[in-house]
Amino acid sequence: MEYRHPEIANVAKQLKARLKQTQDKKAVLRAPELLALIERIKTLPVGKRATFGKEVNLLKAELEKLVRESLFPKPSTLTPIDVTAPFDTNLSAEDRPKLLPAENGSRHPLMTELELILDIFARMGFTAVESRELDDDWHMFGSLNFPPGHPARDDYDTFVTDEELVAPAHTSTMQNRVLKAGKKQLDQGQPIAVVIPGRTFRNEDVDASHEHTFYQLEGVYVAKGIHAGNLAATIKAWLSNYYGREIEIKIQPFYFPFTEPSFEFAASCPFCDKKGCSVCKHSGWIELGGCGMIHPNVLKEAGIDAVKYSGFAWGFGIDRLVMLKYGIEDIRHFHSGNLKFLRQFT
Ligand code: DAH
Repeated sequence: MEYRHPEIANVAKQLKARLKQTQDKKAVLRAPELLALIERIKTLPVGKRATFGKEVNLLKAELEKLVRESLFPKPSTLTPIDVTAPFDTNLSAEDRPKLLPAENGSRHPLMTELELILDIFARMGFTAVESRELDDDWHMFGSLNFPPGHPARDDYDTFVTDEELVAPAHTSTMQNRVLKAGKKQLDQGQPIAVVIPGRTFRNEDVDASHEHTFYQLEGVYVAKGIHAGNLAATIKAWLSNYYGREIEIKIQPFYFPFTEPSFEFAASCPFCDKKGCSVCKHSGWIELGGCGMIHPNVLKEAGIDAVKYSGFAWGFGIDRLVMLKYGIEDIRHFHSGNLKFLRQFT
């Protein structure tokens, strides 16, 4: 900016130089030289006042702009920084701190398998409800037709808190809740079709095939006119999907208080097609779990009319399925936290 009045041009030169040197940039706007120029305006004869005043105002505006720019440099002139980075990313490669070596983790094989299983059941029309890790005696036994003192309770010995809560020994502990929640659906003509994955607990003598903590998958299906043939077909369809080949199933009588009749089910060995191998211990079959037609007392406890409706349920261990699939010889690997074991599943 050129100033025609020599006096103003002089002050402009001085103050711009001062702005470059001083720390207190704003002080330039209060400089006595500038104030003196402003005071001078009033004293001038009317004819000169306008042009002089205008130039002083231009100088003031120019100085204000320069002060502003010196205090807040244009963003493009700053080096960008990433405040979320663990170090200043503007540092050169050799000045950067050396990070500890890191590697990606992997999904636990039990969770990978569970997801696969739930996917198949979802396609078959089952919704999933997670089980719980703390429950009460009534849900784990009473609602499932185990009267107090019933000897079958001994098969489900588990951990109990001071407040008499139990770490559930089976996912059947959820049956009453799932049945109650599905009652409305039945009245609307829709079946109850739910699978219940969950962590379960038992007071076991731990060895290669027994753990105190393991996973189960429960299934519950209720509608009008359901019979044991539907149960067998559902398990067969699921297993054939899971192993990607036609699986035969074998069902033999068993006892559970919450089903009548009750069965154990086994699958034809998917690894040797029943010819006999080390996985099926040369029997051609692998035992998988328990199942049966839901006992009328269990339906009644949930407020479901056991004359109008019937259903089936099953429960099996997920750990065992994964062990068979990958040839894992010891169930204790799953909770060992052993990286050598887990890295095989990356
Ligand atoms: N809860 C049983 C167990 O852990 C397994 C089971 C058997 C579940 C039969 C069921 C069933 O739903 O109908 O030993």
